[in-house]
Amino acid sequence: MLKPEYTPAVDAPSAPARSYRVITYGCQMNAHDSERIAGLLDQAGYVALPAHEHTEIGPADVVVFNTCAVRENADNRLYGNLGRMATFKKEHPGMQIAVGGCMAQKDRDLIVSKAPWVDVVFGTNNVGSLPILLERARIEQASQVEITEALQTFPSNLPTHRELDYAAWVSISVGCNNTCTYCIVPALRGKETDRRPGDILAEIQMLVDQGVQEITLLGQNVNTYGVEFGDRGAFAKLLRACGDITGLERVRFTSPHPAAFTDDVIEAMAETPNVMHQLHMPLQSGSDHVLRAMRRSYRSERFHGILERVRAAMPDAAISTDIIVGFPGETDEDFEQTLQAVRRSRFTNAYTFQYSIRPGTPAGEMANQVPHDVVQERYERLVAVQDEISWEENKLLLGANVEVMFTTGDGRKDQATDRISGRARDNRLVHVRVPSDPADRPRPGDIGEVTITYAAPHHLVADSPIRNLRRTRGGDAWQAHQDQPDVTSRAVGLGIPALAPRSR
Ligand code: 5AD
Ligand code: SF4
Repeated sequence: MLKPEYTPAVDAPSAPARSYRVITYGCQMNAHDSERIAGLLDQAGYVALPAHEHTEIGPADVVVFNTCAVRENADNRLYGNLGRMATFKKEHPGMQIAVGGCMAQKDRDLIVSKAPWVDVVFGTNNVGSLPILLERARIEQASQVEITEALQTFPSNLPTHRELDYAAWVSISVGCNNTCTYCIVPALRGKETDRRPGDILAEIQMLVDQGVQEITLLGQNVNTYGVEFGDRGAFAKLLRACGDITGLERVRFTSPHPAAFTDDVIEAMAETPNVMHQLHMPLQSGSDHVLRAMRRSYRSERFHGILERVRAAMPDAAISTDIIVGFPGETDEDFEQTLQAVRRSRFTNAYTFQYSIRPGTPAGEMANQVPHDVVQERYERLVAVQDEISWEENKLLLGANVEVMFTTGDGRKDQATDRISGRARDNRLVHVRVPSDPADRPRPGDIGEVTITYAAPHHLVADSPIRNLRRTRGGDAWQAHQDQPDVTSRAVGLGIPALAPRSR
C-alpha cells in the first residue's frame, strides 16, 4: 500500500547513526521482547537514545511501540500516542514509527488504516524481522505489516540489549493453552510452545558468565512447562538445575497457574537455595461461581490449599496475585467471597483490575455485564482491604535482617534522601540508607544485609548500616558498563545469522 503521507528517510552516506526509542506496555514478556527489539536495532546500526529518554514518548529516527492488549484502555492509549506521533513525524522528516506486540497482533492492518503514518506493524512472532521491515518501508515508501501465527524463534534467541547488567529475563515458553473467558492472550500468543531445557540452561549459563546474578523465568503458564515434550515434572527439574549454576544468586519465575501448580514445584522451591521464596499466584476471583464462568478450572479451596502448602514449606514466602473485579455476572455475594479470599490469603501485594471487555473473547459476549459504578465501588473496597494487608505484612518485617540486592532506578526519591533502593530476596522493595562517600556506596548488583527500620504499604526502609556488603560480579558488570558505555558487552548474538549491513 502506497501512502501519500509517507515521508522518505534522509539517507545521506555521512548521516549520523539513526536514533531509536522503544516504548513498552504490558507484562514482563513484552519487556523481554523490547530488549530483543533494542538488541536487533543496535545490531542493525541504530543507536539507543540515552536511558532516561529511551522509554518516553517523543521523536527519534525510529520509535517502536511494543503494545499490550489485555485491557481496553491499552487500545485507547495506543491510538492516542500514535496521534501525537503524527505531529512529531511532520517535524522530523524521515522519522519511522513501528508498532509491535499484542495490539499489533490483534489489530493488524487496522493500525495502518487508522494511523497511515505508521511505517511498520509487526506481530509478537515477528520481532526478528523489525530491522528488515523498517528498511523495506524506507525503500518502498510503503507501510509494512508482518504478522505470523507461528513462532519462528524464541525471543531469548535474538540479540539483546538488556536493561540491567545483573538481572535478566529468560523465556521458557510462549503462548498459553488455557481458555480463560476474559482473556485475549490465547487468541494473540497462540498455543504453548516450550523451549528445550538444554537451550534454557545454556542461555542462563551464558548470562551468568557475563555477570548476571538474578534471572526470572518467563512463561504465560510456567508450570505447564514440559507438557509439550512429555515431561510434566520439567519445571521443577528446571528450578533444581538452576540451583547447580555457580554464581547465580537469585532465581524467580512468573506466572504459574493454580490449576496446574503441583507439589514438586513447591519442593523444588524450598530445597533449591537460589530459588527465591516468592510466588505470584493469580487468584482472579474468590467465588467458585465466577471462577467457573471464567473457565478457570481450580476452585477457591484448591487455591488456599496451595498457599498453605507453600507456607508450610517456606514460612517466609511472599505471595502476590492478580484479581479481576466486576467479571460479568459477579454478584455482591461473589465479590464478598473475593474479599474473604483476599483476607485469608495474606498477599504481600495484589494487582487489581476492573474487568474490561475484550471483543472476541467469550466473556465479551456475556449479557450480564456489571455496571461501571458497581465495579468502581467494589474495586475501591478491594484495594483498601489489600493495602491494609500489604502494610500489616510489611510491618511484620520491622527489625528483621534482610539481604538486599541493590538496583538502579527503583527509588525516585533516592537522591534526595541518601538512600539507594534494592530488592529483598522475596522481591520486596527496600530503600537503604547509604554512606555519603560515593566510594563506600553499593553499586547496582552488589549485595548487603540490612535491618528494616520502617514499613510502608508498598516499600520498606532500612536506615541501619549495611553489613557484609559484597562487591559482586554483577556490580562489576554494571561498573564496566558505566566506564565504557559504548561497549556492547550486553549485546549477545546466539549464533543467529547477523542481518545484512544496512545500505547507506
Ligand atoms: N479485564 C481485566 N483484567 C484482565 N486481565 C486479563 N484480561 C483481563 C480483562 N479482560 C488481568 C488478569 C491477568 C492480568 C495479566 O490481567 O488478572 O492475570
Ligand atoms: Fe503481556 Fe498479555 Fe499484555 Fe500481551 S496482552 S503484553 S501477553 S499482558
